[in-house]
Amino acid sequence: MLVNATRMLKEAHEGHYAVGHFNINNLEWTKAILLTAQELNSPVILGVSEGAGKYMGGFKVVVAMVKALDECLGITVPVALHLDHGTEAGVRACIEAGFTSVMFDGSALPFEENLKKTAELVKLAHDKGLSFEAEIGSIGGTEDGVTGQGEVADPEQAAAMIKTGIDFLAAGIGNIHGIYPANWTGLHFDALAKIDEVTGDVPLVLHGGTGIPDEMIKKAISGGMSKINVNTECQLVFAEATIEYCKAGKADPTAENKAKGYDPRKLLKPGFEAIKAKVKEKMELFGSVGKAD
Ligand code: 13P
Repeated sequence: MLVNATRMLKEAHEGHYAVGHFNINNLEWTKAILLTAQELNSPVILGVSEGAGKYMGGFKVVVAMVKALDECLGITVPVALHLDHGTEAGVRACIEAGFTSVMFDGSALPFEENLKKTAELVKLAHDKGLSFEAEIGSIGGTEDGVTGQGEVADPEQAAAMIKTGIDFLAAGIGNIHGIYPANWTGLHFDALAKIDEVTGDVPLVLHGGTGIPDEMIKKAISGGMSKINVNTECQLVFAEATIEYCKAGKADPTAENKAKGYDPRKLLKPGFEAIKAKVKEKMELFGSVGKAD
C-alpha cells in the first residue's frame, strides 16, 4: 500500500523503533524489499537516488514499477516511495512523477539558502500530499558522486529547519555513506541529544546505516532516530552472492551446463535472496517487525 512516510515515522518515533529506508536499483531489489516487508508485517521506505532513478529509465518508470509490484504482489503493509538526496529539480520531478515522499538535500548550500529553498519545496510537496525530509550538517562519504565531509549538525539550525514544516530531519552526527574507514570514531550521541531536545516530536533520520555497530544503532533509535537509511550493505551482499554463484561455475555458458544457470532469473536469484536476508536482519534490529497494523 503506497503511502507517504509521515504517519509511519511518527508512530516509529513515538514507539521508539525505526523504519528502514532501503535504496532500490532495479526490479529484483524492489521485489526483495517489498516481499520482506510484507512477510515481516513491517512498514518500509524505498529510497531512490537521482542516479538510480536515471539508471532505471526515469522517475516515471520507478513510480510505475513500484505501484505495479505493490499491487501485483499483494503488498498491504505501508510503503513509501522516497527521493533520496534530491536536488530542487529532482524534488520537483518526483512530485510530478507520483512519488509519495521526497528529500531535498540542501546541506551543501549556505544554511540560509538551504532553509529558504526547503520552505519553498515543503509547501509544494505538502500540497500534493507527499512527506518531506530536509538535511542539515552534511553526511560524510560519497553517494551518487556527491561527497560530504560528515559534519555534525548544529542544534540551532535544526530548530530553525523544523519551523519550515518538514516531516523528518536528516541531521549529521558523524555518520558516513558507504564503508566506514578504520579510524572512524563513531556517532556523536552528545550532539544527537542536543538536536533531539530542540526537534521534539519531529522524527530524525540516520543516513549511512551500513556498517554502524548494532549497539550504536539501538542507542541512536532511543535518541530519536526513526528512519535509518541502508544502501551499501544490500549492494555488498548482492555482489558477494552473485560472485560466489559465478565462481562455482553455475553461470558457465557451456552446453554441459544443463541447469542453464546463466538464465538471468537464476543468475540474479542468490543476490535477490541475499537482499531479502539483509533487509530482514535490519528490520529486526530496527524494531519495525509487526508494526504495520
Ligand atoms: P549507506 O550506503 O552507507 O548504507 O547509506 C545509505 C544512505 O544513507 C542513503 O541515503
